[in-house]
Amino acid sequence: MPEVKRVALVTGGANGIGRAICRYLSGLGWRVGVIDLPGSGLGRGFPPQARNIVLIEGDVREEKTAARAMAALTERFGRLDGLVCNAGIMTRKPLRRLTLAEWHRVIDTNLTAAFLLTRAAETALRKARGAIVTIASTRAKMSEPNTESYSASKGGLVALSHALAISLGPDVRVNCVSPGWIETKDYAALRRKDHAQHPAGRVGKPQDVAEIVAFLLDAERSGFVTGANFIIDGGMTRKMIYDE
Ligand SMILES: NC(=O)c1ccc[n+]([C@@H]2O[C@H](COP(=O)([O-])OP(=O)(O)OC[C@H]3O[C@@H](n4cnc5c(N)ncnc54)[C@H](O)[C@@H]3O)[C@@H](O)[C@H]2O)c1
Repeated sequence: MPEVKRVALVTGGANGIGRAICRYLSGLGWRVGVIDLPGSGLGRGFPPQARNIVLIEGDVREEKTAARAMAALTERFGRLDGLVCNAGIMTRKPLRRLTLAEWHRVIDTNLTAAFLLTRAAETALRKARGAIVTIASTRAKMSEPNTESYSASKGGLVALSHALAISLGPDVRVNCVSPGWIETKDYAALRRKDHAQHPAGRVGKPQDVAEIVAFLLDAERSGFVTGANFIIDGGMTRKMIYDE
């Protein structure tokens, strides 16, 4: 019997960590639906003629994007095994200047979208006994000034993930990955001290996140793992930083 090709839907896949996840899964033989905004460079990263990739232009804050993505994947591949909620944005602004619209934009992109996508994908994921991975952040647990909306959204995403693990189990496993500093642009331009401050001795790469996402989507390797939050930060959140 021919092996069934598994299908994943990844948000924010035009750039950075999301693109690395899409490429890695594709290299492992997954078929991948990629959602990203118009103008995000989605077409640049993935040739439209690639047979195992479906590009879906849309805004994850909108209900219709989740519906369109599910329709596109059902038509093309007829199944869904994995959902990766990766799209995210950050706003740094003092609290007194942060508008309600700016607050909502971050919360809706980073948190509400995961609810909308999971709701749209639930039936297909249950049928496939699939898995969900959300991409949160170590900022769910620690902060710099002026990042309230981002930290709140990521804290919410960590909590949403364990709540979903309970509601959707045992059919669907749900796990969260919380990266620290993942350099998505010019890794070679990083300074020695950027690397040295990490207990692991280096800054993270998108591939570091892609590896664990692939593991968590694969029921044969991670079938006993659900409701967990994996911190991928080179040890930074374990490090005491009191001044000497
Ligand atoms: N890079 C890091 O150091 C780091 C650390 C912790 C967490 N994260 C998280 O990892 C995820 C990916 O981060 P990244 O560094 O690759 O970011 P990035 O900006 O390089 O890529 C994010 C992608 O999401 C897309 N996107 C944004 N809003 C969207 C929307 N409304 N609808 C559809 N797509 C949208 C963007 O167009 C972009 O392609 C984010 O959730 C981010 O919060 C990143």
